[in-house]
Parts: sequence; C-alpha cells; structure tokens
Amino acid sequence: MKYKHIVKVFFVVTCVIFVLIQFIQPNRDNPQFDPAMTMQAELNVPANIVSLLDRGCYDCHSNETRWPFYAYVAPASWLVSYDVSEGRKHFNMSEWGKYRMSKKASILGGINSAVKEKEMPLPKYIPLHPEADLTDAERDTLAAWAQSAAEELMGGGEEE
Ligand code: HEC
Repeated sequence: MKYKHIVKVFFVVTCVIFVLIQFIQPNRDNPQFDPAMTMQAELNVPANIVSLLDRGCYDCHSNETRWPFYAYVAPASWLVSYDVSEGRKHFNMSEWGKYRMSKKASILGGINSAVKEKEMPLPKYIPLHPEADLTDAERDTLAAWAQSAAEELMGGGEEE
C-alpha cells in the first residue's frame, strides 16, 4: 500500500471506531436524595463554605453533578463518569445522613488535608473548571471549616 493509502485507511478506521464507541454510554445519573440528609443541612454549613464546595467539589462528591458536554462524548465521557463514581464512592455530600459518626469525622479530616495539600479538587479537573481553582485564602477557609467541623463531631460525644 502507498503511504497516502495507509493514512486514508487509518483515518476511516479511526472515524468508524469513534462512531461505534458512542454507543457505549456510561452512567450519568444524578440519583434522588433527601435535602434534609445532606452534609450541608446536617452540619448547618455556612453559605460561604457551601459556595466553595459548590465551585470545587459538588461535581464529583454529590448527586448534583453538572455533566459537561464532553461527558456525552466517548471516550471522555467514560473518564468523567469514572471520576464521579469514584468521588461519590469516597464521599457523597448528598448521602451524608447514611454515614456513621466516625466516617463523617474522618471525611471532614480528609477534606481538611486534601484541600490544604491541593490534592482536591482533582488537579486535572481544574483547567476545564476555572471556578474550581480555589485561591490559597479560599483553601484555608475551607480547610479550617472542615477541621473545626471534624473536631465538633468528635468532641460532641454523640456516639453511634
Ligand atoms: C473531578 C472529580 C473530583 C472533584 C472535583 C473533587 N474530587 Fe475529591 N475525589 C475524587 C476522586 C476520584 C477521589 C478518590 C480517588 C482519590 O483519592 O484520588 C476523591 C477523594 C476525595 C477524598 C478522600 C476521601 C476518602 O475516602 O479518604 C476527599 C476528602 C475529597 N476527595 C475531597 C474533595 C473536596 C473537598 C473537593 C472540593 C474542594 C473535591 N474532593 C473535589 C474526585 C473529585
């Protein structure tokens, strides 16, 4: 085969594969939840903190994910869906009421360190979501809130 030929065949095969993979649709559910059982409601989270969580964390750690357009185009859709399901598995603000006290306290401790260490929001998420690029001051505010909420839970003496 001539070089030009190979390029053409390669292009056509790639296009066919691209079209075919569109039939493999990942999960993009936003399951129903009880607004009274969210972390925001249970911990009475102040509005400025809710706003930081909304900008930086809701998409992967709640059932209020805003699915971007590329979440509808394979193979990007698979990656987005994977991150959301992993994120929700680790902690889901919409399902907060289902966690035991010890789990809640450890999540809050995890938020404190993940935000301070810049492990969260996931760094690869930030370029496509500039609003999630929290400033150092915003990170400090969020981390300090999580730390004090964790201490309050642990010191609260309410065992489960
Ligand atoms: C793009 C998706 C995404 C965003 C946005 C995101 N996370 Fe995550 N998060 C994940 C994934 C995936 C994991 C699990 C894998 C890992 O640890 O890297 C995780 C894990 C965590 C954990 C660890 C939980 C555990 O069980 O130890 C914490 C805490 C956390 N995230 C907090 C946050 C906070 C706070 C924000 C917002 C400032 C945030 N995340 C934003 C995807 C995300």
